[in-house]
Amino acid sequence: MGKLDGRVAVVTGAGMGIGRGVAGALARDGADILVADVDAEAGADTARWLTDRWGVRAEFVHTDVTDREQVHAMVDTAAREFGRLDILVNNAWRSLGFARMEKTPEDSMRAGFDMAVMAAFWAMQRAFPELARHGTGRVINMCSLNGVNAHMYSVSYNAAKEALRSMTRTAAREWAPKQVCCNVICPGAQSAAYRRVAEADPEMAATQAAANPMGRIGDPLDDIGTVAAFLASDDSRYLTGNTLFVDGGSHINGVQWAPNVD
Ligand SMILES: NC(=O)c1ccc[n+]([C@@H]2O[C@H](COP(=O)([O-])OP(=O)(O)OC[C@H]3O[C@@H](n4cnc5c(N)ncnc54)[C@H](O)[C@@H]3O)[C@@H](O)[C@H]2O)c1
Repeated sequence: MGKLDGRVAVVTGAGMGIGRGVAGALARDGADILVADVDAEAGADTARWLTDRWGVRAEFVHTDVTDREQVHAMVDTAAREFGRLDILVNNAWRSLGFARMEKTPEDSMRAGFDMAVMAAFWAMQRAFPELARHGTGRVINMCSLNGVNAHMYSVSYNAAKEALRSMTRTAAREWAPKQVCCNVICPGAQSAAYRRVAEADPEMAATQAAANPMGRIGDPLDDIGTVAAFLASDDSRYLTGNTLFVDGGSHINGVQWAPNVD
């Protein structure tokens, strides 16, 4: 018996990276999964992997999360094809690059808000009746230490992710009476996006790994997915409105200085 047997999850951006890892961990615990991604090849591959490896039902639905109609169709597909929807993971993101605040184009700010805030807003609104139906509803939104710590040169990313975090906490308060728990994960993981950046700049990647208190960047399935599966399960039924930093302690590494002690 898996702790998510009989539950149904939608995971956006599950074609690769953290979304794929989260979908894998939910499937490992027994959940059926609707994989949503704008990359049809990657999304279909994840759905096959979930079924082959864990024997769950998994389907792919082509979804661009920046399009309201497609997001609504994604939620409706889960409810119609699987008969219920318990777990909604808003994870999809594509990089908007780096720029100084004063040089960041307005388009980049709008794209960030569409991808993080509006996408999750549309999905959460549409999914709420299903999430509230069985007392098992869970929303897990992927945000970022970048936003929390105001990392430089990524204002469109930071602002959108912090707005998403605020929206998650608001929903957590409003939906608590319906036992719908809404939480945020700020991950640190070797995703497809991370690997692209690391290959382009190996020195940066080595510095980042060395600065991580645990000395490594996390695994999408076994480090991030496992925590998402906990948040999706009954084990976390009294946990809502939280931000979990699943990053090997990166958020507490603070100033990179320590006194000499024996
Ligand atoms: N990798 C990290 O260490 C890290 C750190 C902090 C936050 N995050 C967050 O975790 C999430 C996943 O990041 P990742 O590193 O796995 O990225 P990734 O690029 O490896 O995977 C992102 C997935 O989202 C899909 N996607 C992109 N645009 C989409 C759209 N419009 N509609 C639907 N799907 C779309 C891509 O096709 C891909 O499958 C993001 O929300 C990101 O902000 C990641």
